[in-house]
Amino acid sequence: MTGSFPQSRCRRNRLYPTIRQALMETVITPSNLVLPLFVVPGESVEEPVSSMPGVQRWSVDRLGKPVEEAMEAGVRCFLLFGIPSYKDPDGTSADRLDQPVQRALRLLRDRYPEAYLVGDVCLCEYTSHGHCGIIKEGNIDNDLTLKRLASVALSHAEAGAHAVAPSDMMDGRVSVIRQELDGSGFSDVGVWSYAAKFASAFYGPFRDAAESTPAFGDRRSHQLPVENRLEAIRDALMDQDEGADLLIVKPAGTSLDVVRDLREEARLPLGGYVVSGEHSMLAGAISAGLLREDAYLEYHLCVKRAGCSVIITYGAVDLARRVRRLLGV
Ligand code: PBG
Repeated sequence: MTGSFPQSRCRRNRLYPTIRQALMETVITPSNLVLPLFVVPGESVEEPVSSMPGVQRWSVDRLGKPVEEAMEAGVRCFLLFGIPSYKDPDGTSADRLDQPVQRALRLLRDRYPEAYLVGDVCLCEYTSHGHCGIIKEGNIDNDLTLKRLASVALSHAEAGAHAVAPSDMMDGRVSVIRQELDGSGFSDVGVWSYAAKFASAFYGPFRDAAESTPAFGDRRSHQLPVENRLEAIRDALMDQDEGADLLIVKPAGTSLDVVRDLREEARLPLGGYVVSGEHSMLAGAISAGLLREDAYLEYHLCVKRAGCSVIITYGAVDLARRVRRLLGV
């Protein structure tokens, strides 16, 4: 029994900063944050993404800058996306060791031993039609696509990834990737599965940055309908059974019910991906003076409170600096 008024007064636990801090249930530390990086071909490229405030695309030779800045702030996990030097219908550039993601992985693994590197595995940045798989008779062929995804995951592992993050939402991808990695001597390489990924309008700015907008149609034949919570949980639990090491929910802020349910039902750490549209919505409103700056942190705290261990977010570095200031560490 927590009692009722007037014996019980909730405000007693809130009256002074010290007791508020002592009782804080949710804390974000820099080590919980994962910074996505967009890697492009060429040299000396450092270009802002117009639809994503504060986000840039980097060529491999310039990556030291954002990575060192992040590590300085305490952010040591990175999720790599690549824009390839060419695209074709089968996405053959996705598993080549001379392409941006693989080159970046090799360099970063070598240069920053404390960094944890995750490669995003999908075909949409690599196919000329912008779809996440191999198209057969107007639809993505699930099982043909799995073969390609396994090969992409292997190329990331060979280049030095600590984990791969399949974001394609094909059925069976986690087990096929796990088998491929294990069969090639990479049993230590983890699988961060985008287990519950909704077909969301909040990915719009990302598709500008990654040049991955589908040339026709949409992604509703594989990504989850936003209306369906049970379907999301079923899909995510299948990824757990197939051997995933971490389950990602995205977009995070619009899926906190799913995060909460998975925290109860799954036995794996969860990651919340605060996606491009959520970032741009918050950062845009803050820079327009419509929201206070601490709205950005509040949004992420709610993702953590719902049950996520890590948060993938474009604002990782600013957030890390902010929480360090607030916690005095
Ligand atoms: C690749 C992928 C997407 C995102 C992450 N991996 C885009 C998509 O599914 O269209 C979106 C991330 C974001 O919006 O920040 N399939």
